[in-house]
Amino acid sequence: MYSDRVLVTEVDGVHAEDADPGGVRGVATSSSTLPSLMADMLDALDVRPGDRVLEIGTGTGYNAALLCHLAGAQYVTTVDRTEHLVATARARLGGAGFEPVVVRADGAGGHPDGAPYDRVIATCGVRRIPEAWLDQCAPGGLVVAPLRGAVARLTKLPDGRAVGRFLHRPAAFMPLRGEPDTGWEAAATHAGGRATEIDARALDDPGFAFWADLHLAPTVVRDGRALRDTADGSTAHAQGRTVALDGPRDLWRTVEAAHRTWLDLNRPRREWFTVEAGPEGQFVGYEAPDGTLLRRPL
Ligand SMILES: C[S@@+](CC[C@H](N)C(=O)[O-])C[C@H]1O[C@@H](n2cnc3c(N)ncnc32)[C@H](O)[C@@H]1O
Repeated sequence: MYSDRVLVTEVDGVHAEDADPGGVRGVATSSSTLPSLMADMLDALDVRPGDRVLEIGTGTGYNAALLCHLAGAQYVTTVDRTEHLVATARARLGGAGFEPVVVRADGAGGHPDGAPYDRVIATCGVRRIPEAWLDQCAPGGLVVAPLRGAVARLTKLPDGRAVGRFLHRPAAFMPLRGEPDTGWEAAATHAGGRATEIDARALDDPGFAFWADLHLAPTVVRDGRALRDTADGSTAHAQGRTVALDGPRDLWRTVEAAHRTWLDLNRPRREWFTVEAGPEGQFVGYEAPDGTLLRRPL
């Protein structure tokens, strides 16, 4: 049966076929991506027959099967983090008549043995594009990856830099394991709190959430309306018009300030932003109609 739904296939490392039939609770650790999002990402990846493709995050193997159909299975390499995931995906792909290279590896390192690739696609989210993905992409090739709640599409230039933009649609992906943990439980009690300048629901708007995330320090992770600084332990958890705060810093001030500039700039959309990666670092940029330039490091 076809439906445009995410199918969670692994929770806290327990695969669906081993799960309690009564139901499970926990953090989803593997899934089959929303099909319409998969389609948009494949459209952005622009795979042609014979393109050498690397996928990070094999999961069920569904997207890998589509890549095999587009490029030819002999040109596709896909990696995931556990033997169980890659073995089941390999078997499913074989059942569909495809025999791509399916490897157990930490996707942060790509798969150097098959490089260079003409197309690199990730189906797990990152806060910065891992250098290996950019290094292993051939000049003129494309990298499509979930980055800070949006999907970035970068072209690798002959000088080694990669530049591009974000797709229009939001994309909430499970993080690449090894990225700073975003799945913590906000504490039930807090040292203090205060009234907020903005309603916490502002962060439910994916457009503002993208903008706010760009303003958070690299050590700060966000889970919905809760923030935590992994460096100093500060937390902020907003509900309605109040925010509960703990630790040495008021993290919510950054979100309030970001909301002011977002409104001043007339709610810039994520597809208006550029993304670039090079020897100087990785940056997201935006040029407002009045010429105001913003460039934020990732
Ligand atoms: C949304 S699922 C992938 C969906 C998949 N493309 C499909 O078609 O079913 C994300 C996948 O990324 C994998 N993943 C997360 N961190 C990883 C890492 N460090 N290295 C390799 N794979 C990783 C997860 O195990 C999970 O299977």
